[in-house]
Amino acid sequence: MPVRSDTVALPGLEPLVLQALSAPECAGTVSIDRLRLAPVPLVPEVRLVMAEDAIVLWARLEAEAGHVLPPPFWASAWTGGQGLARYILDHPETVAGCHVLDVASGSGLVAIAAAIAGAAGGTANDIDPYSIAAIKANARANGVELTLSSSDLLDGDVDGVDVVLAGDALYHPSVAARMLPFLARVVAKGARVLVGDPDRGHLAHDWLERVATYEVPMSGAPEDAQLHLTSVLMPRRDKVDDRRGPAPPPRGDSQPRRHPG
Ligand SMILES: C[S@@+](CC[C@H](N)C(=O)[O-])C[C@H]1O[C@@H](n2cnc3c(N)ncnc32)[C@H](O)[C@@H]1O
Repeated sequence: MPVRSDTVALPGLEPLVLQALSAPECAGTVSIDRLRLAPVPLVPEVRLVMAEDAIVLWARLEAEAGHVLPPPFWASAWTGGQGLARYILDHPETVAGCHVLDVASGSGLVAIAAAIAGAAGGTANDIDPYSIAAIKANARANGVELTLSSSDLLDGDVDGVDVVLAGDALYHPSVAARMLPFLARVVAKGARVLVGDPDRGHLAHDWLERVATYEVPMSGAPEDAQLHLTSVLMPRRDKVDDRRGPAPPPRGDSQPRRHPG
């Protein structure tokens, strides 16, 4: 799997992130979009640099760059990622001692949760260079080490990975259309797959089944204002050849629950 740490110049990002990291938590207005380091609602063990208004942040970064940029997905903890990170921290045996790949990592939330849960090595992958910079800052803020990858892996296979994690990676039909076959190939090669998805409607495959559902506090990505529940899914046992991979983790969180944190 190609792995590299991004060194592209990202206008406007570094001072913003540095300012957010150095500001006292829950301080008043830090910047007009209120980019700041704060605990993730469903996963308070993890703190991320997040924007209260990602649209304003987006406009500001585009003004600095002088050209169109992808939305700053990295500046929010997405609902699907929050559920998957919660599940990993509640079930550390899913990743402990494993080499994990967090694909479509965004802020790095899921990879950071896996590192905290005891993964032996973690790669956070996202094609947005701003995301790579944010993951680097977030990993540092949480005291974990991650390998960073900005390659588009979806048309290939991955080697040397025990578990592939995909938090809210099925957020758009065109991404889901590539992500699902990629995950199916990962499973066929014997690695485990865990998906976090708040039922965005792009999960047309019957080989994944729900293993947990969480109620999400109402402060995920602004796009998620209507999404209260998020699920964690894994390949169905009857679709996985047990001889090819480690045993799936225990199940049992099938009822929606609110995290006490
Ligand atoms: C909805 S965000 C989810 C981020 C994070 N996993 C979370 O749950 O908070 C989706 C992310 O997928 C990334 N992405 C889109 N296409 C990708 C691809 N082909 N390979 C890797 N990442 C991709 C985007 O840049 C974005 O950061």
